[in-house]
Amino acid sequence: MTANIPSDTPLIDPDDIGYNKTSNPSFSDLVEARLSRRNLFGLGVGSASVALLQACGGGGSNSVFPMPPAAAAPAPAPAPAPAPAPAPAALKLNFTAVPKSLDDVVSVPAGYTASVLYRLGDPIAAGVPAYLNDGTDAPATYDKRAGDHHDGMTFFGINASNKWEPAAAARGLLAMNHEAITPLFLHPTGQTIVGTGNAAVRSVADEVQREFFLHGVSVIEVSKSGSAWSYKQDSSFNRRVHTLTEMQFSGPAAQTDYLKTKYSSDGSKTRGTLNNCANGTTPWGTYLTCEENWAGYFRRIVASDNLNRSAKEIAAFGRYGVAGTGRELWATVTPDTADNLYGRWNTEVITGAATAADDYRNGANTYGWVVEIDPFTPGSMPKKRTALGRFGHEGACLGPVVVGKPLVWYMGDDSQNEYVYKFVSTKAWDAADVNGGIAAGDKYMDDGKLYVAKFNADGSGNWLELKLGVNGITAANPAYAFADAADVLINVRLAADVAGATKMDRPEWTAVNPRNGEVYLTLTNNTARPVGGTDAANPRSYNDPKGAAQTAQKGNPNGHVIRFADTNGDPAAVTFKWDVYLFGARSTAAADVNLSKLVADNDFSSPDGMWFSHATAGLLWLETDDSKYTDVTNCMLLAALPGQVGDGAARTITNVDGATSATQATFVGKAPGTEGLRRFLVGPKDCEITGIAESGDGRALFVNIQHPGETTPAANISDPTKFGSHWPEGGTARPRSATVVITRNDGGLIGL
Ligand code: FEO
Ligand code: CA
Ligand code: CA
Repeated sequence: MTANIPSDTPLIDPDDIGYNKTSNPSFSDLVEARLSRRNLFGLGVGSASVALLQACGGGGSNSVFPMPPAAAAPAPAPAPAPAPAPAPAALKLNFTAVPKSLDDVVSVPAGYTASVLYRLGDPIAAGVPAYLNDGTDAPATYDKRAGDHHDGMTFFGINASNKWEPAAAARGLLAMNHEAITPLFLHPTGQTIVGTGNAAVRSVADEVQREFFLHGVSVIEVSKSGSAWSYKQDSSFNRRVHTLTEMQFSGPAAQTDYLKTKYSSDGSKTRGTLNNCANGTTPWGTYLTCEENWAGYFRRIVASDNLNRSAKEIAAFGRYGVAGTGRELWATVTPDTADNLYGRWNTEVITGAATAADDYRNGANTYGWVVEIDPFTPGSMPKKRTALGRFGHEGACLGPVVVGKPLVWYMGDDSQNEYVYKFVSTKAWDAADVNGGIAAGDKYMDDGKLYVAKFNADGSGNWLELKLGVNGITAANPAYAFADAADVLINVRLAADVAGATKMDRPEWTAVNPRNGEVYLTLTNNTARPVGGTDAANPRSYNDPKGAAQTAQKGNPNGHVIRFADTNGDPAAVTFKWDVYLFGARSTAAADVNLSKLVADNDFSSPDGMWFSHATAGLLWLETDDSKYTDVTNCMLLAALPGQVGDGAARTITNVDGATSATQATFVGKAPGTEGLRRFLVGPKDCEITGIAESGDGRALFVNIQHPGETTPAANISDPTKFGSHWPEGGTARPRSATVVITRNDGGLIGL
């Protein structure tokens, strides 16, 4: 029997599944005074806080801020308090809010134009034909086409010498992630699957080949002619990185037993990157792509494979959710190739395989990393940076870049009840490394300290180091006996558990405010946050009834944005203070739900993508990946002008679910009003808005529209009028993920 994917299976966001079974505190039971003055001042932070410019996701003109080396650290504490930052010029939102919408279009404010730039399947090499978009395009051409599910994205301006120049306004390389696929629209009638359950197999290898290529990363050259942006189909910079691209491991876990596979018997390499969600940048001009829901792609039938596994391996698989047939059934194609293109997705111990170098039992360990790509050197081999830990990496936002200081990246682990991390380099930043490529990455990203966050009930926080021998991360840990440094990095969720990290409501993107260095973190939602199970940093649990049927949506369905300030503006600090910047909610929700007092022009749900514009130095863009408020509106992009940690007040709210209620104390940032938060764009039907970047002058904004029409029932593939979206081509076309570029008709800055 040949069958398509079941048409009426509800779409489950893999992020909604949590694998954190620990009893880690959700609230502060101890407020420790780890705030010794030695910790606060021992790094000689001095004037660091006045030089806070950063280069997260979108790159930009302030990405690198060469400062003279800081004066040597004065030995004895206390050091003088840092000088206050000069007051930056006030920004003002300057557009008319876009109304909520269920239309199948991209809506932007009056005076702006949104143009489609780069769609699923668009060719990126000379001679590759235009995409037919009917499921019949030749599979072998897909490594020279745009991938699916456009996500995190960075604009790298280029100068006439083809070098990185962040301020470049009219020509650049756009690097972007392709997180996943909407299989229904990729083949003539969706995926061809034979059998059901554990016996289900993909019977058409061509379909799987397309899917291998449609994941990963694009690098494309884009430029402006007049006011119109386009990509250059035959640019020598154009590149696809996908699930077959060879990659090297670096950092402490490289070349260890945990990463040995039949493909790389010394554990030095693997093939491909997968489920690339958000992104990050480096001050030397490379792209970071982050592997998020990789676990679901692997086949591991638990009942049989566990018989061949140690207790530690079983604990690790359980903590990362490596179980099942694999979401796209890639491991099931027969016959396998000599180099195991299909079998590599089976991460079971194979009968007859003597060692880890004879099968892919360690295959799942080769994913879950931050991967560095040099977009300026198309032939360069990407590197998986193991020092940054293995988890469901959402993104990696670079913190303030100061000459003579360590570099820092802030990183969310996107699953329910997971954690937020930061990596602090050992080496201090030297601006001579700009344009240093992957070699510069070796210097800064392979050696450093990895921390996880603990949010305390009094508004303080601690960064807990994740290293063998500290914070309970030892061989004596009852839940998991850590053997060595590589074991800690590969199983960093287990290390964070024992360290006592705070479970969060799905940590998505991080963003660093260039005005003050404060770090913002989207917490998109959490259906597993019952009344009585809240904490100060994840304070809401309520019901958000949806649609005419008033279907219950419980927990924290609409999400929030927390922010924190590392002590003294020092990214290497081990303490911070925090508050909740913004709570998502319907504007009509009760006061203890709509805590940010959102109104019709700025209400939203499920914040995900988030990024501070560099060219405008402080404008925050907020994107939604929502399924909770979609009875009223499609997903959206909002512009915001946030204040700072502590600009609001302490507040105790009452959470209610039926007859159950509980109070929760928290810290609520100042309500933004429409002067501080305003809807800028609404996307087409059934999409997510994600990925954002700008040209070096801030006069072109690139935004990704991911998976329009994603929940179209499989049975509807035979009737194009019943597709859930036809964007961007309209008519009865199959929908396509795409990048749009937004410009102001008078050529001005976007949003201001
Ligand atoms: Fe891929 Fe966490 O969104
Ligand atoms: Ca995301
Ligand atoms: Ca998401």
